[in-house]
Amino acid sequence: MKEIRIINLPKHEDKRGNLSFVENGTHLPFDIKRVYWIYDVPGGEKRGGHAFVKQCELIIAMSGSFDVVLDNGVERQVFHLNRSYYGLYIPAGIWREIENFSTNSLAVVLASTFYTKEDYIRDYSQFKTSKK
Ligand code: TYD
Repeated sequence: MKEIRIINLPKHEDKRGNLSFVENGTHLPFDIKRVYWIYDVPGGEKRGGHAFVKQCELIIAMSGSFDVVLDNGVERQVFHLNRSYYGLYIPAGIWREIENFSTNSLAVVLASTFYTKEDYIRDYSQFKTSKK
């Protein structure tokens, strides 16, 4: 799908362990306005189930693993995230769900906008209509 991609973040490995980072203006095609994270997800639960009008984002599996299911109104693509040095870049206007969370997984979202509920499209048929 256009624009959607895995961004490979820097990884510094030495005998003390690994260190990764993300810098505004260096690794992302947007400026970070907000960071939020999803954790303690009970087995079998799904998150998301919406699209954003303006927000684009980078999702990182900081711990554990989960699947991000993306839908651009025409096709669906699933990304399995399980490394803290990979970020999934998602532009605005993509329907997304996050599912199959492993125990103790931590999903961190770097977002291009401040939170506003007006940026959410939570109705799938409305999303489909917006794509026509
Ligand atoms: P929501 O975006 O629906 O969660 P998800 O997409 O992960 O399933 O957010 C859940 C609740 O948290 C909702 O009431 C809005 C609130 N919220 C904020 O207040 N600020 C934020 O930055 C986010 C992401 C959510």
